[in-house]
Amino acid sequence: MELSAFLLLALLTGLLLLLARGHPKTYGRLPPGPHPLPFLGNLLQMDRSGLLKSFLRFREKYGDVFTVYLGPRPVVMLCGLKAIREALVDQAETFSGRGKIAIVEPVFQGYGVVFANGERWKTLRRFSLATMRDFGMGKRSVEERIQEEAQCLVEELWKTQGALQDPTLFFHSMTANIICSIVFGKRFGYRDPEFLRLLDLFYQSFMLISSFSSQVFELFHRFLKYFPGTHRQVYKNLQEISRFIDRIVEKHRETLDPSSPQDFIDAYLIRMDKEKADPRSEFHQRNLIYTALSLFFAGTETTSTTLRYGFLLLLKYPHIKERIHKEIDQVIGPHRLPSLDDRAKMPYTDAVIHEIQRFGDLIPIGLPHMVTRDTSFRGYIIPKGTEVFPILHSALNDPHYFEKPEVFNPDRFLDANGALKKNEAFIPFSIGKRICLGEGIARMELFLFFIIILQNFSVASPMAPEDIDLTPQENGVGKLPPVYQISFLARREC
Ligand code: HEM
Repeated sequence: MELSAFLLLALLTGLLLLLARGHPKTYGRLPPGPHPLPFLGNLLQMDRSGLLKSFLRFREKYGDVFTVYLGPRPVVMLCGLKAIREALVDQAETFSGRGKIAIVEPVFQGYGVVFANGERWKTLRRFSLATMRDFGMGKRSVEERIQEEAQCLVEELWKTQGALQDPTLFFHSMTANIICSIVFGKRFGYRDPEFLRLLDLFYQSFMLISSFSSQVFELFHRFLKYFPGTHRQVYKNLQEISRFIDRIVEKHRETLDPSSPQDFIDAYLIRMDKEKADPRSEFHQRNLIYTALSLFFAGTETTSTTLRYGFLLLLKYPHIKERIHKEIDQVIGPHRLPSLDDRAKMPYTDAVIHEIQRFGDLIPIGLPHMVTRDTSFRGYIIPKGTEVFPILHSALNDPHYFEKPEVFNPDRFLDANGALKKNEAFIPFSIGKRICLGEGIARMELFLFFIIILQNFSVASPMAPEDIDLTPQENGVGKLPPVYQISFLARREC
């Protein structure tokens, strides 16, 4: 059935309910917002171009904290650094619950570190952080893994001999391989058919999850779930990935040496065995599969999409690319392998990466939070279980912190002496207790992948810079850059 037919049906059902029930249900003393209709919520006031645009328009009328009814359920929106910080940091525990994303809920069902709540989330987060910090467990550090992976990529890019490429698959492969090496203890070749299938499933799913139809699904999932649509494809894709992880876990079981865990899965299996007599233990198969899936999804799409936007921006602004080349040549030169220690000596490159993340605005409406108890916030009462969206876009584009936020300008992250200047509204990884668990790894990856690629290659576009369009392909849960072509031109003989 067409999307418009769904909407029409939803509209008619809503109007019938309106006649039958009269007033919408009211909750606590929620922040103000546009008047909702029963079932439809604020659908009729929404912008056709998606949730973010609608929220920004509501903000103009209702201020930084307001309530929007996504279908029948109220969601409190937080805009601007101040409101987001007051909630996620000043009342950290209360705002640390995780809300649902309707389109992936049937898969995760509250399992795995991203979508868990309460004690389950605390246990899985603590374990994931500690285990990821440990790997390489006295063996290879994450930095070394990233350096090695970047070198594999450089070899692949050499083989392209400067021919035009869609860079998506390259960036996916290397970011996925970092997670593979931590979680599975191995990396995959860039042409391994099983790996390519996995990457395609992730890419297609992230695109579908960020699409307009997923945003409509978010509003009316209770009704739309009975019909065919994007949600069924997302479900199928994520189930296929889960089965792949399941097979890898089985192989780990067969080869496990409890005295020498090799990766995240080994460490988890050892813990699972230790707690097998405890019926309340969170270390069971389901949490393992969905935590691994969460780490993959959160760790692959995010960093690779940022790299993709980043290189598009360098094609659009060649003078910025030239300044990075200059800094790399001065600090590292053509032969030495870049390391994290170089970051402190490369403020310009660091500033560009910050600006790519700010401008790229990867997760514009944040991941949904949920209040864990009845909460008093700015004079309102938010009942336990209410969802809260920290609109990260509103901090990353706050003109009070970033002059002319719509302009891509890395210099905003430099002080008068050319040193990196921190900005407190730079929160692409969010803040508070749910802050991105992979921030450290992501920052290492972004820095090392950018400079190792640019140390070895110059990049070129078939289009004139002024014709390069930065308009995102999708702008929902994720903001995705348009598809583009790029050539990687070796800077010296290999
Ligand atoms: C540029 C890269 C990345 C960005 C911009 C990013 C951003 C985010 C954001 C905004 C959240 C939601 C925080 C909240 O709920 O308020 C998040 C959560 C999360 N991220 Fe990342 N992320 C990135 C890379 C990664 C990587 C590489 C990993 C894994 C190695 C990762 C793992 C996670 C996990 C597990 C969560 C859920 C944390 C929880 O619910 O406790 N992320 N990330």
